[in-house]
Amino acid sequence: MLNTKLRTNTCGELSKKDLDSNVTLCGWVSTRRDHGGIIFIDLRDRYGITQIVFDPDVSGEALKTAEQLRREDNIQVKGHVKARKEGMTNAKLKTGEIEIFIDKINILNKSETPPIEIEDRIELSEDIRLKYRYLDLRRPLMQKHIKIRHIAMQAARKFLCEHSFLEIQTPMLVKATPEGARDYVVPSRVNPGKFYALPQSPQLYKQLLMISGFDRYFQFPICLRDEDLRQDRQPEFTQLDLEMAFVEEEDIYDIGEGSIKAMMKETLDIDIKGSFPRLKYKESMDRFGCDKPDMRFSLELTDVSEIVKDSDFGVFKSVVESGGIIKCINPEKDISRKEIDRYISFCQECGSKGMAWMRVTEKGLDSNIAKYFNDDVQKRLIDKIGAKPGTVLMFIADKPARCNETLAKLRNKLGADLELYDKKEFNFLWVVDFPLFEFDDERNSWAPAHHMFTMPKKEHWDIIESDPGKVLAQCYDLVLNGVELASGSIRCNNIEMQERIMKMVGFPKEKAQERFGFLLEAFKYGAPPHGGIGFGFDRFIAMVCGHHDIREVMLFPKNKSAQCPMDGSPSEIPDEQMKELHIKLDVVKKSG
Ligand code: AMO
Repeated sequence: MLNTKLRTNTCGELSKKDLDSNVTLCGWVSTRRDHGGIIFIDLRDRYGITQIVFDPDVSGEALKTAEQLRREDNIQVKGHVKARKEGMTNAKLKTGEIEIFIDKINILNKSETPPIEIEDRIELSEDIRLKYRYLDLRRPLMQKHIKIRHIAMQAARKFLCEHSFLEIQTPMLVKATPEGARDYVVPSRVNPGKFYALPQSPQLYKQLLMISGFDRYFQFPICLRDEDLRQDRQPEFTQLDLEMAFVEEEDIYDIGEGSIKAMMKETLDIDIKGSFPRLKYKESMDRFGCDKPDMRFSLELTDVSEIVKDSDFGVFKSVVESGGIIKCINPEKDISRKEIDRYISFCQECGSKGMAWMRVTEKGLDSNIAKYFNDDVQKRLIDKIGAKPGTVLMFIADKPARCNETLAKLRNKLGADLELYDKKEFNFLWVVDFPLFEFDDERNSWAPAHHMFTMPKKEHWDIIESDPGKVLAQCYDLVLNGVELASGSIRCNNIEMQERIMKMVGFPKEKAQERFGFLLEAFKYGAPPHGGIGFGFDRFIAMVCGHHDIREVMLFPKNKSAQCPMDGSPSEIPDEQMKELHIKLDVVKKSG
C-alpha cells in the first residue's frame, strides 16, 4: 500500500488497467514540454515516471500554474487516467501507455535551478556530485543502486536468520580494534585527556559475543579506518560481518557461500550452483602473482629463474644472483612494438625497472635480447612456458614481491586489454592457507598477515617462534573477479597461543594487557572455538551493480582527500566545544 493522505498512486504503477480512474500523484518535475498551449510533464518519484498533461479544455487554471513550473519543483496533481494516442506510447516506460489529464495542481515546494541534471546519461564532476549528493541520489541509477543494497541486505538477513544467526549491534565507542589501519578517535568529555576509538571492525566484540554464548552472530557494521583512499576503499564502509562458535573453516565456507548465493539470487536472479573453488595462497602467488587472482581468464605466470640464470643476459643473471626471480607471462598473442612499449611503461609505473620481452617464432626467440639466450636455453624456455609461435613473452626480473606484484597487475591489464573475459561473469574463489605472519620491512619485525586473533594451523603450533615465516593460518579470503571481497579466520581461543602470537607481532605481555587485556581476560572463562568472516558489503554491491568504484553505491562517500564536499566535514569545532573536551589545539603543519 503506497497510497497516503497525499497520493493515491506512485509515478511508476499506472497502466491501461487504470483507464478512466481519478488519481492523485506526487513527485518532481523531471521534464516539461510545451506543445502549443498544452503542457506535458514527466513526473518522477522513486517508482518511475508518469506523463501528466495540462490541457486548457480540462483546466485553464491548472495549465496556468503548470506554465510556471520548473525542473525539480515538487508537486501534487489530481487528474484522470487516459490512454495515450496511437504512436505516442513509450514501450520503455511501465506507465508508457497512459497519461494523466490534470484538473488540479498543488505546488508542494519550488526548486531552484538544480546544479546538476537529474539524468543518468550526464557525466558530472565528482566534487559536484558529492556536494549535491542528495540530488545525485535522485538519479534513477543511484536510486537503483541504493535499492540493490537494500535487497542484498534483506537477502543476507533472511538467509542468516533462517540459519539461527542473531543480528546484534556492537558498540561504536571502543578501545582500538587493530585491523591494520589507523584509528579514528573520539575525545571523552567526562574523562579529560582520554579517547575512544571508532571500530575498524567489530572484531574483538564479535569474539566476545562468542564467549558470551551467542553462538551465531551477524550485523552490517559501519567500519571506520583512517587509511589512504582508493576506488575500493573508503574511511567509512559497511561490512556484512559474522561470527560462529563451535566451528571449523568448512562451516564458515558453507555459511559464507550461502549468504553470497542468497544475495546474488535476490539482486540479479543469478543461481550459483555448487561450491566456490579454492586455491592455496602459495599456489595463487606462484601462478598468478597475487592472493586475489581474477579467475575469469587463465594467463598464468611461469617462474623461469632456473632456466634464464644459464643465459648470458646480465640483467637476469644478476637478479637471480641477488635473490630475485624472473617470471614470464605469455599473452598467447602477437603484440605490436608500440603496444609492447606501452606495457613496458605500465610495468615501470608499477615500480619495476622495466619489462623484457621476446617474440616466439618458428625459428626460436626473437628480440634485441634474444642473442643472449643460446638454443638450449631458448628451447627450455619455450618448453617450460608451453609457448607457440606468434606470441610475445613478457618477463619481469625483480625481488620476488615486486616481480609478482608487477606481473599480477600486468596480467589484469592484459586480461582487460585482450578482452579475455566476459564482463558479466561472477567468478568467486576462496583463497586459503594464508601465512600467519608476514615480514614488515619498515618495522623490521613480523606482522599479522590477517589480524593477530587468527589461529595458526595445528601442525604449525610448534614452530611459531622458531620458523614464523612457515606458519600457516586458519585464514581465508573470498575473491570475486580479482577483488578481495571478504576475509576471515578461525580465531585463537586460547590465552597462551594468543599471547605467543601477540608477542611475535610486537605486543609482549604487558603491552598486550594494556591494549587487549579485556579479551585475554575473557579467554580465561571457557572461550569456545570460534571463527568468522567480514564481507566488504560496498565492494560486493558495487560489483553487483557493474562498478568498481564503491562510491557509486554509497550514500554520502568522502572524496579522495577524505572530505565530504556536502557537509564540509572534517571541520574545525568551536572553541567552546574544545574547552568542554579539555583539548587545546596545536596543529603541526603537514610537511611536503
Ligand atoms: P578485513 O580488514 O580484511 O577483515 O575487512 C574485510 C573486508 O572489508 C572490505 N574492506 C573495505 N571496504 C571498503 N573500504 C575499506 N577501507 C575497506 N577495508 C576493508 C574488504 C575486506 O575483505 N574483522 C575482519 C574480518 C574477520 O576476520 O572476520 C576484517 O575486518 O572487502
